[in-house]
Amino acid sequence: MRTLSTITLFSLLSLASSAFAVDEAAAESLARKSGCFKCHAIDKKKDGPPYKEIAGKWKGKGDAEQKLTTHVTTSPKVKIDGKEEDHEQLKSKDPADVKNVVQWILSR
Ligand code: HEC
Repeated sequence: MRTLSTITLFSLLSLASSAFAVDEAAAESLARKSGCFKCHAIDKKKDGPPYKEIAGKWKGKGDAEQKLTTHVTTSPKVKIDGKEEDHEQLKSKDPADVKNVVQWILSR
């Protein structure tokens, strides 16, 4: 019994510490600096889909972080009013900053 509960406690602790803590202020500030809010709001449709909708679309998909990271760092073509445009990139190339914004979007 004692062994079992120690293991349970241990796995709970390691789960908690592996969960990524989003720095909301930093994410919003980088998104603002990068012009993301021109086309995206949290829950209103603008030229781009709201972040809530993006989070919903990717919920539970294992490759969400990787796909969104590519999306915000490589300028894929997106359609805006029927015209193709290069999607905006984040104004930071630091993987930690990018991950923070991607996780922030995914947790809306
Ligand atoms: C000029 C308008 C515009 C700007 C600026 C813009 N986006 Fe987008 N974004 C779009 C559009 C349009 C889509 C939808 C593309 C699609 O689904 O084909 C999109 C989609 C996305 C997606 C979802 C991708 C997916 O595969 O589901 C993410 C995440 C995203 N944008 C993040 C950002 C971030 C972060 C920034 C700032 C660096 C940003 N966007 C700036 C227009 C914009």
